[in-house]
Amino acid sequence: MDSMEINKAVAAFLVAGIAFMGAGLISEALVHPAAYKGTAIKIDLPGEQTAAAAPAEAEPPIAVLLASADPGRGEAGVKSAGCVACHSFNEGGKAGVGPNLYGVVGGPHGHMEGYAYSAVLKGKQGPWTYEAMNEWLKKPSAYAPGTKMSYAGLADPKKRADIIDYLHTLAKDPVPFPAAPAQKAGTAAAAPAAGAATAAASPNPAPGTAPAAAPDISALLASADADAGKSSTAKLGCVACHSVNEGGKAGIGPNLYGIVGAPHGHMEGYAYSAALKAKSGPWTYAELNEWLLKPSAYAPGTKMSFAGIADPKVRANVIAYLRTLAASPEPLPAADAPKQPG
Ligand code: HEC
Ligand code: HEC
Repeated sequence: MDSMEINKAVAAFLVAGIAFMGAGLISEALVHPAAYKGTAIKIDLPGEQTAAAAPAEAEPPIAVLLASADPGRGEAGVKSAGCVACHSFNEGGKAGVGPNLYGVVGGPHGHMEGYAYSAVLKGKQGPWTYEAMNEWLKKPSAYAPGTKMSYAGLADPKKRADIIDYLHTLAKDPVPFPAAPAQKAGTAAAAPAAGAATAAASPNPAPGTAPAAAPDISALLASADADAGKSSTAKLGCVACHSVNEGGKAGIGPNLYGIVGAPHGHMEGYAYSAALKAKSGPWTYAELNEWLLKPSAYAPGTKMSFAGIADPKVRANVIAYLRTLAASPEPLPAADAPKQPG
């Protein structure tokens, strides 16, 4: 790619990044320009055992943490945490001890061509979702036992979220953040896709106040029932328009095999609407949740004529069922976090 194209790509990525971050994050950065103090942050150097020994306490879901994360702090964080000793972050950057990390969020596990990944990391299916990245950085050896990344992990969830926020900016089309219960209420105008859909569909939490939090999709999936979801797809008529078997033909809608973690508009040769084709990144659980709540809000102009599923539990069941339509189903988000009832 010539330098003109690189410039365009960089500009596009900046614009997209700013749009995704939304006004909330920007104003936070403006109000606290010097909030980050490298020395105030705990540094976990490679091989340090503290993170590994930290007790597994319940922490807020990554969607919530990301809503107040800061990519600038994350960029400083990858230096203070020692990631830069092993990883490059620029587009097309060379591998060091570890792979280049440009485009890793939403990319497949082991996303760098030609890098010799461990068998365990290569064996992980599906894209690096925010949830997966959060688990990985908390304790690589627990997420992928036998990984060759010799790094104890980052115990501090906020620091992880900052770094994940930074990693997500390393892409031409950053993968939208998962919908957090209380996030970005005032930024619907600036936020595309999931953010806008959330704001439009939820009974509008006041900015700055914590609304009675609707359980997020990670929590709902933890208790979802794939069999119930399967009967719902029959009752709700999904199967009238969609085949679900591997290699199944398109009907009115595309085949849905392998949809979780696949790109939007994942079926080769199917004529998707411009609205759906315009969505970038993989179908995360959070996005499927938004989509099935109200397709016309998530992707205005979509050709899926389906009102939506209002009941969050039924949506979670249907998504849990969609997840099973794969040779190796995607991991459920934050599977190891103990669930707090209520
Ligand atoms: C001591 C060197 C080292 C350090 C320090 C290190 N990594 Fe890694 N990282 C690796 C290696 C080696 C791999 C490949 C792991 C494998 O194949 O099992 C890897 C893999 C990864 C991957 C997966 C990449 C892919 O393509 O799937 C991510 C993401 C990542 N590291 C992020 C980080 C972050 C963020 C930090 C700092 C908090 C960090 N790493 C610190 C060596 C390191
Ligand atoms: C009336 C027919 C119809 C019904 C009913 C229907 N869909 Fe769809 N679906 C479509 C069409 C058409 C598209 C393509 C949308 C576009 O291109 O905008 C689609 C797209 C999708 C996609 C995105 C596929 C991709 O490759 O990105 C998913 C996921 C999906 N539908 C799931 C469901 C589920 C689950 C149900 C039931 C709760 C359902 N649909 C009900 C017609 C339908």
